[in-house]
Amino acid sequence: ALDTKPIITDEETKHNIELAAKVLTESNDVVGFPTETVYGLGGSALSDESVKGIYKAKNRPSDNPLIVHISSIDQLKRRLLPEDYEIPHIYDKLIQKFWPGPLTILLPVHDGSPISKYVTANQDTFAVRMPAHPVARSLIAISDTPLAAPLANASTRPSPTLASHVLHDLQGRIPYILDGGACDVGVESTVVDGLLDPPMLLRPGGVSLEEIRQFGGDQWKHVILSKKTAGKLEAVRTPGMKYKHYSPSAEVVLFTGCGNGKKAITQYISQNNLEQKKLALLRARNFGSNIHPGIIIERSLGSTGQEISRNLFRMLRDVDEDPSGVDVIFVEGTDETNEGLAIMNRLSKAAAVHIKG
Ligand code: TXA
Repeated sequence: ALDTKPIITDEETKHNIELAAKVLTESNDVVGFPTETVYGLGGSALSDESVKGIYKAKNRPSDNPLIVHISSIDQLKRRLLPEDYEIPHIYDKLIQKFWPGPLTILLPVHDGSPISKYVTANQDTFAVRMPAHPVARSLIAISDTPLAAPLANASTRPSPTLASHVLHDLQGRIPYILDGGACDVGVESTVVDGLLDPPMLLRPGGVSLEEIRQFGGDQWKHVILSKKTAGKLEAVRTPGMKYKHYSPSAEVVLFTGCGNGKKAITQYISQNNLEQKKLALLRARNFGSNIHPGIIIERSLGSTGQEISRNLFRMLRDVDEDPSGVDVIFVEGTDETNEGLAIMNRLSKAAAVHIKG
């Protein structure tokens, strides 16, 4: 006979997941929970009231479609798809390889679909993924409720990769946060659309473009990047700008192709008269340490793509919230291969200025 063991052996964890599941199903409320990518703010994808609650807690208008999180293929079929529907075969290999994990796929919305129109923003497709984090999977399985779950942050803040980030942003706005430790991936899931021909990568994330091409099968060898993804580094205001009352409004300046950084940073500081400002540096692969005396906080994001993804948002928050009141955060970027595509996509949105060497 099989030596079957309970999945959740720790009583406190079990109790807390059950409590959160009850909040989701019985009061249509929303909870913060960990996934392997970032923390999500989850509410029933089947309830208009829950999904409206997500937008309300985040202080964000309901214009963007949300990702639906499921715990198993069986649940996806049973709760969200018509009885005889077959998931398009173009997704077979990707699902086999990357689920559970940081990959989101688009499926058509069918007549009579139970998914709230606030999830799909009235589109004819919906986005779905099966997260790998055991707490996320248990929560969705125990509640037997597919969860719409955007990032558990206040809009415009860096993505939450620790429970404390969720608490910081959403304290008093949601009843519970399940603490599952630090997120392993650190950037959101990759979103792909296989309903188009050729298929399209809509958002780079935890699964790289190279991996999609390698493991997806023939059709995915020709996957194209959506304009938004490919349209590289436009200048956008830094996260945090609108939230001066929470944190110092540090400006992010991104550097790529600048060698050890010494010359580019020194030049930028003098050209912009930043000598009297509080300056921080997040370095990656090539920047040296102690490259300028004006830099008061310096952190290493890591040297592999995996490390840089995992550390990026946490370190941006750490430095931004440092009591010294940092004015400008210099960040060393990476090339756009493998994890680098998602890293640079996020950094380009966080940065006000991009210096290319
Ligand atoms: O890693 C993640 O995916 C995280 C964690 C919490 O799981 N969740 C997340 O959810 O990022 P959300 O809902 O914020 O992601 C929305 C992304 C947007 O880029 C949106 O445009 C895309 O998914 N999306 C959702 N539904 C879509 C649809 N029907 N068509 C095109 N894009 C869609």
